[in-house]
Amino acid sequence: MFCDLLVQGVRLDGELPRDSYLNKVPAIRNLKKMGKLDFHQPVTFFVGENGVGKSTLIEAIAVSLGFNPEGGSINFHFSTEDSHSELYRFLTVSRGVRRRKDGFFLRAESFYNMASYIDQLSDLINSYGGVSLHQQSHGESFMALVENRFGGNGIFILDEPEAALSPARILELMCHIHRLVEENSQFIISTHSPILIAFPGAEVLQLTKDAISSVPYTETEHFKLSRQFLNAPEKMCRYLFEK
Ligand SMILES: Nc1ncnc2c1ncn2[C@@H]1O[C@H](COP(=O)(O)OP(=O)(O)O)[C@@H](O)[C@H]1O
Ligand SMILES: [Mg+2]
Repeated sequence: MFCDLLVQGVRLDGELPRDSYLNKVPAIRNLKKMGKLDFHQPVTFFVGENGVGKSTLIEAIAVSLGFNPEGGSINFHFSTEDSHSELYRFLTVSRGVRRRKDGFFLRAESFYNMASYIDQLSDLINSYGGVSLHQQSHGESFMALVENRFGGNGIFILDEPEAALSPARILELMCHIHRLVEENSQFIISTHSPILIAFPGAEVLQLTKDAISSVPYTETEHFKLSRQFLNAPEKMCRYLFEK
């Protein structure tokens, strides 16, 4: 076990309100069964079907750690829509002994609002590369953020970062993650990217309706299906359309 992690795991404490939709979200039901979920590596991926609860879980971890629910660093205080769940109130995040120096929570859905917030604070823009994030493409602004704002000893929680990125940029992101892990940072990432999950040494936690389990990335459906498709796209399409 990698003992020096900034965030070592999460535990669900207390009873969720009986009528809460959270009782029906598979990831939350399974976390309740397990009691706690430990992190073992500086990079943890959550993978699983749409709707299984990846965003709900990582958002609650981020809010428990003090991040703004719509994204940003600890110091961000903007809110356009009160859309985050109450799960964070029932979640205990166990922290390591090291103190966190930096951090960021990034949600694909609220990246636009976060960019507007940074624009409003004019003295902040230099920490993000000097160009308004709105004057760059989604992918460019995402990379500007990672290059300029992510540092060592930080905890970075990213929800589907690949939404903004070309395959080449995903590889670039992996290089940044590698550099930042060497500088003692930790990443918790929800993703559908079969490329990203191949990050060496990362733990892939697969969320299904029945369980949360650690799996080799080569055993995920994301990897197997992508490989099968890329090996024979025409054949696969013929098969799909015939069906
Ligand atoms: N405010 C809400 N009220 C009711 N159900 C919700 C609400 N927010 C999310 N859900 C449901 O919670 C489930 C998990 O959502 P989410 O965490 O976004 O899934 P994922 O990120 O794995 O695709 C989904 O079935 C979604 O419809
Ligand atoms: Mg999601």
